[in-house]
Amino acid sequence: MIAHIKHIKTSGTIVRSSPFLIRRLLRAMNFRRARTVVQFGVGTGCITRALLGKMRPDARLISLELNPVFVGECREEIHDPRLTLRQACAGSLPALVEELGLGRIDYIVSSLPLAIMDHELVERIIAASDDLLAPDGLFLQYQYSLSQRAMLERRFSDVRVGFTLANIPPAFVYECTPAISAAGGL
Ligand SMILES: C[S@@+](CC[C@H](N)C(=O)[O-])C[C@H]1O[C@@H](n2cnc3c(N)ncnc32)[C@H](O)[C@@H]1O
Repeated sequence: MIAHIKHIKTSGTIVRSSPFLIRRLLRAMNFRRARTVVQFGVGTGCITRALLGKMRPDARLISLELNPVFVGECREEIHDPRLTLRQACAGSLPALVEELGLGRIDYIVSSLPLAIMDHELVERIIAASDDLLAPDGLFLQYQYSLSQRAMLERRFSDVRVGFTLANIPPAFVYECTPAISAAGGL
C-alpha cells in the first residue's frame, strides 16, 4: 500500500483490485486451454495469484511490472515455477517474446493505468499485444473510465465492455479480440 502511494504516478490507483473485479476481469478466460498468459502491471500481485490459482500445471505466466518495489514484494511472496516475473515495461513484450521463445500468447491481462500513461507508449503496447495474441486469444484490461475505449476499438477487431460496481472505484472491463482473428488467422 505504501508503495502504491509513493508511486501513484505509475500505479494509477492506491487500492488493490477487489476479488469481484478480478473474477470479472478473468471471466472470459478458458483456463483449460491457456498455455501462455502475459500480465501487465503486477501491483500487489493479487491478479498474479488468481491467475496462477486457475492456470494449468503446464501453463506459463509472464508478468511485467515497472515498479521495483512491487517486483521485490512479489518475488518474496509468490513462489511458482510457472511464473516469470520481470521488472520491465509492458512495451518490452516483443523483445521478451523473442528472448523466451514464446509462441502465440493466449491471453494478455492488463492492469496498466492507460489513462495516465504516455499516449505513444500505450499505442505501442496495444499494437504489440494485438500482433502477438493467438487468433482465439484475448486482451483483457480494466479501467475506471471509458477514456481508452475508442483507442482499443481502433486496434482490436472486437471490444466487449463490462462493468463492476464491486470495486473501489467501480471499474470497466474490456475484452478485446485481436484483429488477426478477423483476418482468418493470417
Ligand atoms: C493499477 S496498478 C495494478 C494494481 C493491481 N491490479 C493490484 O490489484 O495490485 C498498475 C500497475 O501497473 C504498473 N505499471 C505502470 N506502467 C507500467 C508499464 N509501462 N509497464 C509495466 N507495468 C506498469 C504500475 O507500477 C502498477 O503496479
